[in-house]
Amino acid sequence: MAASTRFSNTLRYRPDAHPNQVHLTPAYALEPIRAALGGTIELDPCTEPDNPTGAERFICLPDDGAALPWDAEAIFVNPPYAKARERWVHRCIGAATAGAHVALLIPAHTDTRIFHTALASADAVTLVQGRLKFGIPRQDGRQMAASHGSAIFTWDCDARQLEHLGTTLRR
Ligand SMILES: C[S@@+](CC[C@H](N)C(=O)[O-])C[C@H]1O[C@@H](n2cnc3c(N)ncnc32)[C@H](O)[C@@H]1O
Repeated sequence: MAASTRFSNTLRYRPDAHPNQVHLTPAYALEPIRAALGGTIELDPCTEPDNPTGAERFICLPDDGAALPWDAEAIFVNPPYAKARERWVHRCIGAATAGAHVALLIPAHTDTRIFHTALASADAVTLVQGRLKFGIPRQDGRQMAASHGSAIFTWDCDARQLEHLGTTLRR
């Protein structure tokens, strides 16, 4: 079903609170991202109540992290999936323009406008080799590999920390 997401408006426009929006960043990607941000995730603006990324500050539903201020210098964003991620990408660009270190993990959908918006702004992008195994909570407790490739966009980060995850392209 997941692979059909791009072709179904019902799935693409599903709400932020839908359970399938929860793609927890696996540790093997999270720790290099943390290192690229300088060792600490100061703000995770879209996450679960138990703060799985260990951010110093975090925002979760029912608060809207895409609408609240991001007053932080090191920000990691793995936004809710489907079409809903567009406003998060714009917030990342705004935070980076204001001087923050920002890492953004989104699907590597190279055909989409929002991917190219991020590409035109970021200092670097790491195209992850293979498919990340997100910690998607499932009834059987097993992790499932994503149905898509992933890209990690960075602004003012140490992108060398991400190189082993795939291929890193710099501006
Ligand atoms: C892809 S998951 C990422 C979770 C975590 N940050 C990580 O990387 O492991 C997206 C998270 O954003 C949360 N979320 C969805 N809409 C949100 C909103 N408007 N404000 C804050 N969090 C939101 C979801 O509940 C989900 O936990």
